[in-house]
Formats: sequence, C-alpha cells, structure tokens
Amino acid sequence: MSATATAQRPTSTAGEERPSLSAMAFVSDAVMMSRVSADLFNVTAGKANVRDGTIDSALAISEWPRDLDLLIVDLGDAGDPVADAAALKTAVPGTCLVIGVGRINDVALYRDLLAVGFNDYLAMPFAEGTMARAVDRAMEARERTGGAMVQHAGVAKDAKPRTLSVIGARGGVGATTAAVTIAAMLGARLHEEVLLIDFDLHYGSLMLALDLEAIDALREALDQPDRIDALFIQQVAQKKSEYLYAMGAEEPPSGGGFQARPHAASDFLRSFHRRFRWIVADVPRGDPVIQRQVLEASSDILLITDLSLPGVRDAMRLQQMVREVAPGAKLHIATSGAVDARRSAVKVADVERTLKRKVDCQIPADAAAALSAINFGKPLSEAAPSSGIVKALRPLVGGLDAPGGVGGAVSIAQKASGLLGRFGQGLKKK
Ligand SMILES: Nc1ncnc2c1ncn2[C@@H]1O[C@H](COP(=O)(O)OP(=O)(O)OP(=O)(O)O)[C@@H](O)[C@H]1O
Ligand SMILES: [Mg+2]
Repeated sequence: MSATATAQRPTSTAGEERPSLSAMAFVSDAVMMSRVSADLFNVTAGKANVRDGTIDSALAISEWPRDLDLLIVDLGDAGDPVADAAALKTAVPGTCLVIGVGRINDVALYRDLLAVGFNDYLAMPFAEGTMARAVDRAMEARERTGGAMVQHAGVAKDAKPRTLSVIGARGGVGATTAAVTIAAMLGARLHEEVLLIDFDLHYGSLMLALDLEAIDALREALDQPDRIDALFIQQVAQKKSEYLYAMGAEEPPSGGGFQARPHAASDFLRSFHRRFRWIVADVPRGDPVIQRQVLEASSDILLITDLSLPGVRDAMRLQQMVREVAPGAKLHIATSGAVDARRSAVKVADVERTLKRKVDCQIPADAAAALSAINFGKPLSEAAPSSGIVKALRPLVGGLDAPGGVGGAVSIAQKASGLLGRFGQGLKKK
C-alpha cells in the first residue's frame, strides 16, 4: 500500500465560491484510483490524499483528521461490507461525507450502505467525472442539511414544525398556484428552506407547475413512514431554488386506490419535519382519507374559494370539516379564481357572511401572471413579482410565522340572505 498523493490540509482561497475539501480515498484498482484522483483534483485544490487500499486499510486508522470532509472507500472483498461500513462511519468525524465504491452492483447493498450513513455508493468501473458528480451531490445535500441545522439553531428553541395545508373549495380555484407562491415567498422571507408536498398522488399538478420530476417513492413512503430517513428525504425532496424544495407523485390513474393507514400522513409529515420546519401541503379534494389526515396534522390551513355559489357552499362544508378534524389549526380563508371579482356572482361580503368570518386574503385574477409562472415553471412570486397576486399574499405570508398570525374568526353579524343564507341555516341544523 503506498500513498500516491501527500496528505495535506488544503487551504481555502478567499473569494472562492466553495472552500476546497479535505479528502482521503482508499481505492484498490489502479485505473479507478487515477479517475478518483482526477475527479477530486478540483474540489480538493489538488491535495486529495488518495491511497491504494480498501476499507480494511481505512478501518486500521485509529485517528482520523478532525477536519476530514470527504472519504472515498473501496469496499474491496469485505465479507460483510455493510458491517464494515457501519464501523467506519462511527470512526470518522460525523460531518465527513463517505462515498463507497466496489465491484458489487446491487441496489440492496446501495440501500444498506445509505442506511448506515454512507452518502453514496458507486459500482466500479465508473467513468471519469462520475465521482466528481457524486461528490457534488453529496456536498449539496450536506449544505442543505448543514444549512437547515444552522437555521434551526438560529430560530427560537420553541420554533415548532409548521405545516400549512392549502385546499381549494372547488377544482381550479388556484390552490396549487397559491401553495407554490406562498411556499416560495415564505422561504425567501424567512431565509429558510420550505418543502412543498403535493398529496394528490394521482393527478397533482404541483411538480408540473415547477417543472420538476414526479417521484415514485411517495406512495411507498406514505405507506411506511417509519422508513423515511435523512437520506431518503435528501433523494426525494427536489430543490427548485435556494429555499424551495418540492415533492410529488404521478401514480398511474389505473393503479387502484391507495388506502392510507390511520395517521400515515401525520407520521409522514413528522419525518419530513426533521429536515424542514415549514411544509406547505397541496391537499387533494378527491381523496377524503388523505385530505382528512393531512388537515389533522396541519398547524395552519388555507381554504381557498372562488366567488361562485358552489365554491362558497363547499368552502362552508370544508370549514366545518376543519373545525372537526383540526380544531387546533389556524384557519385562513382566501378568495381566488381566474374570474375577475367584479364579474363574479358572489361578492367577498357574501363569503364573509356565509362563513361568519373575515376573508383573510383576496387573491385577484391575474391571468398574465399565472401564465408566466406556468411558462417559466417557477413560482409566481419569481415569474411575476409585481403581480397583484403576490401583493395580496404578502400579509398572509408575513402573518404565518408571526406569533399571533393573521386573520382568525371574526364574527360577521349581518344576516345572510337568499341562497347563501340557506347554506348557513342548513349547516346550523346539522
Ligand atoms: N389568481 C389567478 N388568476 C388567474 N389565473 C389563475 C389564478 N390562480 C390560478 N390561475 C390559473 O388557473 C388554473 C388553475 O390553477 P391551479 O392549478 O392553481 O388551481 P387548483 O385549485 O390547484 O386546481 P386543481 O383543482 O386542478 O388542483 C391554472 O391555469 C392557473 O394558472
Ligand atoms: Mg391543484
């Protein structure tokens, strides 16, 4: 076993975007070793310590440099590579990224290695550039986790996890648009990473709206939330921008109904809250089980209605449901929709009378802004920052993280009349 590069702590250069890493590698194959060296050259300012060896050699090291950032290790022909990997992981500094390489190309081994804390595993042989990309991915993930930890340390100790559920009283009232815009605005305002989740596993449009890929694992994760770990989250939560992450599925329509077990959504959300304090959930209307579970687990609920009779009727029914399933959640009411409020059959005052509370936010119709958000695949706050939609959402977003929040039930004393009045009376009788 011989060292092919000197062990030195690379110094970071002032003004560099990312400081160079302190890295070591143990690789037994000469070709792979030169590829790893080449790939590590940039990130380590040419000072990677690349050795001919395997995980045995790494395990023989009793004292690791405390500032080691990255370790690449060849699992060689270890009898029990996962046990060796687990032992190595406990020996190296906690913040050190560990990437395994080996001849076995097996997804079960890959998963087991991730489960014991490895950041990635590459099957040999791999092309030049593969390791550099793996290191980049792992670093980015660490920055995310590290960043989140810093933010968590920075916020008050009692800053509790918060889930805002956004639900439309009718189809197409702009719930997804609002969820995306609020999440983006909230993240930018708090300088904190916010996760958007589309709980409509079959027909959700959130990932499309952000031009991100739907993932298959969401249903499985809802099924077995106890299996969600940091690495799973890192893999499925897709980064849209500095503070915005999103995840959603595209289950085939013919895939059969998914019956979530009791509390699946709240266990699922709890797992994701380990990584993201704020989650914004796009809640489906078509799946009563998931809908109920997500609302139950929410700290905040935004109910959006359009200015139509069916919209107001369903807003009232959903308001009643929220009272029953999530009595502790803060309910915010918004009006929205693609139709100009001035041309709508129902006025905001009618909504307030029917719901017996104030509307917190009147989201105006702005087709051009909505269209540019879709065209750019970006949150509306980025695609059309001067839109009235963004302006209308600002107080709501500002109030979300404030101790008292915004809005709240305000009794509207006036008597409801006509059709809308009938809804109110029907509800009282129940
Ligand atoms: N305030 C608005 N003004 C004009 N158009 C809007 C507004 N909000 C959303 N839209 C547009 O209306 C359509 C439906 O919006 P969106 O998908 O957000 O609604 P949704 O309530 O989530 O619908 P679904 O019931 O399908 O989930 C989209 O084309 C969107 O761009
Ligand atoms: Mg939607």
